[in-house]
Amino acid sequence: MKYLLICLCLLSYACSEKKDAGSRQSADPHSFSSPRRVIVKHLNLDLKVDFDSHVLSGRAEWTLENLSGDKSVIFDTRDLKIEKVTTGDDQHNAEYVLGKPVKYMGQSLEINIRPSDKKVTIWYKTSPGAAALQWLSPLQTAGKKYPFLYTQSEAILARTWIPCQDSPGIRFTYNATISVPRQLLALMSAVNPQERSSSGVYHFEQKHPIPSYLMALAVGNIKFKETGKRTGVYAEPVTLNSAAWEFADMGKMVDAAESLYGPYRWGRYDLLVLPPGFPYGGMENPMLTFATPTVLAGDRSLVSLVAHELAHSWSGNLVTNATWNDFWLNEGFTVYFERRIVEKLYGTPEAKMQEVLGLESLRELIGEMGASNKDTRLKGDFAGRDPDDATSDIAYEKGYFFLRSIEDAAGRTRFDRFLKEYFASHAFQSITTEDFLSYLDDKLLANDPVLRNKIRIDDWVYRPGIPAGLPRVESEKFASIDSIVKNMLLAGDFSVDTSRISSANERLYFIKALPDTISLTNMGVVDKQFKFTKSKNSEIQCAWYLLAIKTGYAPAQPYIKDFLIHVGRRKFLLPLYKALSATPRGKKLAREIYEKARPNYHSVSYTAIDAILK
Ligand code: BES
Ligand code: ZN
Repeated sequence: MKYLLICLCLLSYACSEKKDAGSRQSADPHSFSSPRRVIVKHLNLDLKVDFDSHVLSGRAEWTLENLSGDKSVIFDTRDLKIEKVTTGDDQHNAEYVLGKPVKYMGQSLEINIRPSDKKVTIWYKTSPGAAALQWLSPLQTAGKKYPFLYTQSEAILARTWIPCQDSPGIRFTYNATISVPRQLLALMSAVNPQERSSSGVYHFEQKHPIPSYLMALAVGNIKFKETGKRTGVYAEPVTLNSAAWEFADMGKMVDAAESLYGPYRWGRYDLLVLPPGFPYGGMENPMLTFATPTVLAGDRSLVSLVAHELAHSWSGNLVTNATWNDFWLNEGFTVYFERRIVEKLYGTPEAKMQEVLGLESLRELIGEMGASNKDTRLKGDFAGRDPDDATSDIAYEKGYFFLRSIEDAAGRTRFDRFLKEYFASHAFQSITTEDFLSYLDDKLLANDPVLRNKIRIDDWVYRPGIPAGLPRVESEKFASIDSIVKNMLLAGDFSVDTSRISSANERLYFIKALPDTISLTNMGVVDKQFKFTKSKNSEIQCAWYLLAIKTGYAPAQPYIKDFLIHVGRRKFLLPLYKALSATPRGKKLAREIYEKARPNYHSVSYTAIDAILK
């Protein structure tokens, strides 16, 4: 009897996995919508941007496909003021119900539809505190003269500025008309203008179906400069030239990416440099990557970020995670692709260094989370949690090393052919982890039991921690830094020929190799030689400031304060505020700094820091 039950359980588990693999619209725990019944296909968005009231107002006209003849359609909203809803070409006034607000999920918006209705139009306003939107005063911009607005929709913030079926498993094309003050330029994740329009009205078209988290808008005193035939940068005028210089390799990157995994399907590839409060390094909005100005190191040492966001044009934007539980399909593939682009353009030693740094941060993270922590599994289970808090670097680095281990086992030529076909055959589709695994099995493993045995798929995807048999990961450059540091510690002498640790990644590795127990005198010796406190490289600054906080190295303190006030990048802010909070004195200082800094941060940063400092 007991065995029968176990068998039945296993069978039903296998069936549910299969069902999931076969369907395009898998259940998404982070959306109220029911796309298996009624799904959106196209959006006409018409919005006016009001910098005085910090409100977007207008309408979203959705084209629907009613798959089951349903009498209602459900959208996601959060903090939206719904003014009116009509359906059909006759603009029939429709009844609608807003559900009870749920934390971070917002409210469902259920609209009654008639069987013949192909359209639903929602008239609405955003709230001034809308989580996706950051409204900047002129003083918070580089030029200090004009206000600025930008959106950040990933993961589930699109619903705070557009009523939508806010799931990455649902794709739609869009057109938009955006009205802004005449002096400002508007840009979206679509075909973009290169000059200001005298009327302040802009029209956009995205003809490829995209998920809602890739909806994006930026408005400001923005100018354009070409960096190649199909690439260019947008930035505030004072930043434009340095941005174009820093990202001069964009065109070569697109070429390199195409030579690896097939044609770039989106037309142009441009990049917008945002004001420093932008909460991420980069965001892969289609046709227009949004980027933090903290990558403008002045020496092109951080441009792998562009390789990363560009790679998302395949992994993420072309083939998309169907739910946030499949987030590693977006980020793990992208880190793999990013390192392949870096290797092609900047050589193997550079790519190896990034790989070693990646493994170090993965080990550190799993150490912190605990090797049996369920959140260290690649396939996530984030239901009931805000995906912005639940998703982690596991998706990036464990995802990377899983793919790297398949490359090792199958051989690079075979794996590259597989990946190229994977992107081509799933173009403009959203898929689950199980869809990917069954494709992997069909195309790569089915006729090769030896290979299948080598790759520990279940360990990588469904079990916590790092599986055994990790590929060998080494960097000669880092090995030589290890021996430099070892000798320094043995001799107690921290003077060194700085040209032996010259590139940004080498310096980053060097800082991380220094022990927390390093004396203040030796911190001073190192700083005098390398000038880390005054570095212009944000990764180096962050690593050095962390060490400075842990060791109590006072000369860095004013620089740390300045960095925290101006930079809004979550990845830097969270560890720095956490490190400060480790002592009562540090926590007091953190709170003082935060009071000044908080207005410069986007909601995805300040929501997380509020929790650290509460
Ligand atoms: N898509 C992410 C940013 C993101 C992730 C936004 C999750 C919201 C929720 C982007 O591609 C990314 O990974 N950015 C990294 C860049 C890095 C890995 C080069 C970042 O911001 O640090
Ligand atoms: Zn990414």
